[in-house]
Order: sequence, then structure tokens, then C-alpha cells
Amino acid sequence: MDFNFKGRDIINGYDFTTQELCHIMDTAMIYEKRVKSGEAIKDMEGMLVATLFFEPSTRTRLSFESAMLSLGGQVIGFSGADSSSAVKGETIADTIEVVNGYADIIAMRHPKEGAPVVASMHTAVPLINAGDGGHFHPTQTLADLLTIHHEKGTFDNLTIGLCGDLKYGRTVHSLIEAMSRYKDIQFVLISPEELKIPGFIRYNVFENQGVSYTEVSSLEEAMPKLDVLYMTRIQRERFDDPWEYERLKDSYVLDTEKMKLAKGKMCVLHPLPRVNEISVKVDDDPRAAYFRQALNGKYMRMALILKLLDEAARNPAKEAIDTTGLEYDRVCRNPKCITQTEQELPQLFRCTDKAADIHRCIYCEQRA
Ligand code: NCD
Repeated sequence: MDFNFKGRDIINGYDFTTQELCHIMDTAMIYEKRVKSGEAIKDMEGMLVATLFFEPSTRTRLSFESAMLSLGGQVIGFSGADSSSAVKGETIADTIEVVNGYADIIAMRHPKEGAPVVASMHTAVPLINAGDGGHFHPTQTLADLLTIHHEKGTFDNLTIGLCGDLKYGRTVHSLIEAMSRYKDIQFVLISPEELKIPGFIRYNVFENQGVSYTEVSSLEEAMPKLDVLYMTRIQRERFDDPWEYERLKDSYVLDTEKMKLAKGKMCVLHPLPRVNEISVKVDDDPRAAYFRQALNGKYMRMALILKLLDEAARNPAKEAIDTTGLEYDRVCRNPKCITQTEQELPQLFRCTDKAADIHRCIYCEQRA
């Protein structure tokens, strides 16, 4: 099968077909072997990735950089908004226009939802969303998928529990979008009332695709049914009210007692960093897959960089964003949307449901 990654940006969980995901995974496994054999890989020699991280990161940034270096390429970038001109008020558009001239591919993380959509309007090179606020994180999903593949050997007939901060958990949103394409997937959404899954995921996946899910608040109750448990951190930085965070932060703690309730072949994933939600005692359980998952992220990012930058895709002619049918006469009220800080951005909406009169911001996908 022929794949065409030419001129593509990777913004959300839907950006790959099932065959493409499979192909990226196969490529990652080939490169994992090559790296482990000690081969000096030169496939990306002369190529440069820019990692523009306006928000903190350990794994995502370092695994992008490690991936490019392991491919024989090079790396430039910054690891916080404070060390970029964003602190002086530079817009994303201007930053990207400049970095276009320095790098062959860009991985960007930003605290505002929809920031990568803005960046993709200005890149001449492939743009990868490395996490935008509480919205999406598609490359973490690549790491998650390879881990599920290794641990479970299948993507079908799985009951997947997602536990913790489902409202702001961008890794959860991308994973649900990606996994919902497989056969007989059941999601068990485990969260406090205040951190339930947001409307755009309910709309994109559960309503539109008729994917099966249940919502519960007890981890113990869900445990025996699960094939995969995806734990997440309650994210202090996403809360407007620090007391609300204090109240909710220890809602779930996975410990060895709770692990006794789980299937012998269940696996535990976590995008990391963990704070208190998985006891370190669980690390010794063979079902704890989160450190293997972090390493899988490097191989998947190697594969993704290769695919986006392969011979055919060099100097890609990028397509401008399709503005047909977009509406201009509304205002996005999501305080975390990129339109709140970049005031000159045009407010753009798409009608997603005529009968119910639902219009969504094209950047953050919240309802107008
Ligand atoms: C996650 C993120 O940044 O969204 N971490 C990661 O990328 N590995 C999860 C988190 O920060 O809690």
C-alpha cells in the first residue's frame, strides 16, 4: 500500500487512517531493532527538528529530540515560553514564520487550545502538535498505541478504563479518538463529576460514531472489567481555582490492593509524569507498562519524523486551511482558546449540527 504523508501536519487524533497508524507502528518497530542493534542510523542526516515548547515537558520534548538524533538528524528549540520571544508578546504566526526558515519539521507544545491550528496556517514545513492545553496530544497516542499493541497483541475487543482528569487530559482525548476506530471497544470513563469528559469528545466520538462507553466514579468498581487501565494525573496547571485542585488531586490512587481486583493480563498505562495517582509499589507489577510506554514514544516519534520528512515529502507544497463554509459572526468564549490571547486571529466557526444549531470554534472545538 502507498502512503502519502506529504505536506501533512499532525494536529489531533483523527489525523491518521487506521492503515497509516499500522504503517507508523511497523516502521517504529523496525527502527527500534536498528537502534538496539547499535547501528549508526543516518536516514535523517542534514535534517533538523525544531522543538518549540511553550509549556513544560520531559518525555515529549526529549523523546522528539532523542528520536531525531538517533536518526542522524539535528535539533534546535526551546523548553519554555520564558526562553522564547512569546514572553515579549510575539504571536505564534510570527514565531512560526521565522522557524520555517531554520528547521525541516516543527514539534510544538502550547498551553492554549487550538494553537497548533494557528501554527499550521503559517508553517511551510510539517507541524506536529506536541500537546495544546487540555485539547489534544496525538503523539502521546502513538506511544500509547504501540504499548497496547505490545502488551495486548490486539486493538479489538478491549475494555479500556480511563481514570483521573478526563476533562483537561489531552492524552485521554487523543487516545479515545484513535481507539474508537477499532472493533468492539468499550470505554469506561472513571472520574469525579467535575472532571468528566468534555463536550467535543462526546460529540466527535460517542454521539457521532456511536462508540460504547460508561461513566463511573469508582475505580474499584471498574477494575475487574478492564483490559487496559489508563491512569492520568490531576493537572494542577489547568485549574482556575487552586482549592478545587486541592479538593480533587487525590481522587484516585492506584495501589497494590486495587491491582488485586484486576485481570491477570490487564495492563496499566500512564502518559507520565505521575504525582500520587500510582503508588511506586505498583511499578514492580509486570502489568505496569508506563515506563515501557515512555520508551515506545521515542520509536513512534522516529517513525513519524521519517514519514513526514521522507524523500517524497521534502519541501512539501502545503495546502492552506480549507475555509469553505466557515462562519465569522461568532465569538469563542473558551478562556483557554488561543483566540483569547492572539486577539488578531480571525474568529472562525464551523456548523457541526444544523438541526441542533451547534457551531464550534475551529481552533479549540468548543461550542460557540
Ligand atoms: C502528558 C501531557 O503533557 O499532556 N504528559 C506527556 O506528554 N507525557 C500528561 C501530563 O502532563 O499529565
